Parts: sequence; structure tokens; C-alpha cells
Amino acid sequence: MPKQIEHVIRDIEDRSALDAVAGPAASLVNRVTKPTVVKNALSGGWLGHALHPVLTDVPIGAWGMATLLDVTAGERGARAARTLVGFGVLAVVPTAASGASDWADTYGPTQRVGLVHGALNGAATVLQAASWVVRVTGRRRAGAVLSGVGLGLMGASAYLGGHLSYVNGVGVSHTAFEEPTGKWTDVAALTALEENKPLRVDAGGVPVVLVRHDGTVKALSATCTHAGGPLDEGEVDADGCIHCPWHGSAFRLSDGEVTRGPASVAQPDWDVKISQDRVLVRAANA
Ligand code: FES
Repeated sequence: MPKQIEHVIRDIEDRSALDAVAGPAASLVNRVTKPTVVKNALSGGWLGHALHPVLTDVPIGAWGMATLLDVTAGERGARAARTLVGFGVLAVVPTAASGASDWADTYGPTQRVGLVHGALNGAATVLQAASWVVRVTGRRRAGAVLSGVGLGLMGASAYLGGHLSYVNGVGVSHTAFEEPTGKWTDVAALTALEENKPLRVDAGGVPVVLVRHDGTVKALSATCTHAGGPLDEGEVDADGCIHCPWHGSAFRLSDGEVTRGPASVAQPDWDVKISQDRVLVRAANA
């Protein structure tokens, strides 16, 4: 990335004073998103990957199109541009909610960058809302200027959003680069497994968690897809789900599906067979 931008982002990451705002704000978001139904809806487990990046396309697209109409169609495109600006403002509600939910589970430098990302988005939304108001009162040119500035702020914010995903790995499955083996691999003695006590083993270089549950042995990748937490240090509930100790995501032991966010990507599951009191695993669907 250009050096100047890199310096700006480093400066944000190092600015610990931002924690005075970020900490309480993240606590508040975590309280609001505590109910499983809310967390699951906002994190995107039902979608199979993070929801926030999908939703961001809506306001960015609407506001981008509005500015394009302002520049190319002038008065002829006034009504459509106004509708797009208003639509984008409405679309911010679920977009911001899903982003805040993701952000509240980050820490330190990443959380500081996320805070600035959110503040820029907030400022861009205020400008777009003001643009809609002045457009409604017939001042199209003033509305176009406000929208243009808002779109610029949104662009800067989008850069930070890209940094959060592609540099800090927020929203990226932390098992994405594992190469699970499709060969049966001997990983443990059956006697080493106690009921509902997760055991971390190594299957050809990939950490796997074994759980003896209801008389059978289940295996999932041990690195939580959400942010890399150690599932083997988590707890198993009566419904046959394992809970990550870091942010509380829950995965069904039988197939790795997410039953509670913030994780949005299923945990890779492994086939298990027992042979001569030894536990062997291989990647499911390998
Ligand atoms: S690392 Fe966040 S829930 Fe597992």
C-alpha cells in the first residue's frame, strides 16, 4: 500500500486513546447482540459466510449510482438520484448493525481501525441523509455536493474495511489455508477420550479436536473458523455442540454447522473410525 496510507493506518492502530470509546461501545454492542437469534442473524451463519460484506454493497452501490446520475444526467436524473440516496440511507441500518456485531468481537489495534471505519461510515451517512433532505426541498445541486463528499468519506472507510478483512483477517475463515488430509490418520488411543472432554490431536499437521459424545467419537478442525480460537479448550453442551472459548461460537459436533455466531463459516468436520482401540480420522468430503 502507498506509504502515506500505511502510516495513517499504523497511526490509528497505535492510538490507544481510541480504546476509551471502543471498549464501552463494544461492550454495549455485545450486550445487545447477546441473544443467539440476534447474533446469528447479524453474523451470517445462516448465509454460510459473513453478512456485513454482502450488505455493504447496497449503500455503496446506491450512493455511487446517485452521484453518477448527478454528474451525467443532471435535472433529468434528479428524482432517481434522490430515491437512490434515500434507499442507501435506509440500507445503512442492517449494514451498520452487522458491522458493529463483527467489530465488537475484535480487540486492540484491529478494534481501533474498526472504530474509525464506523465513524467514517457514520459521517458519510449523515451527509447522505442531509443530501436527501436538501434534494427533497428542491436544492439538487447542494444535494449532489453533499452526496459527493459523503461518497468520498465512504470510499476512505471502505479502504479501512478492506484493511480489516485482507490484512487483519476479520471475517476470514481461520481454517481457509489448512490442508486436511483425506487419508485415514491414527491420532489417539480410544482410552484417552473421556465423555464430553475435548482432546486436541494432530492429523497430518492440522489440529483436530476429538470429542466422545453419546457413545460415539466426533472430530472437527480445532481452529475456530471465526478468529482462530482453540475449540479443544471449549465446552461441550448437552445438545452435542462445542463452544469456542474466545467469543462463544457454537458448532454442532456431528457436522460442524454453526449453531451460534459470531462464527459464520461451518467448522470443517472429519470422518472418524475406531480400529483396535485407536482413533483414526480423515477429512470429510476429501
Ligand atoms: S475465535 Fe471467535 S468464536 Fe471462536
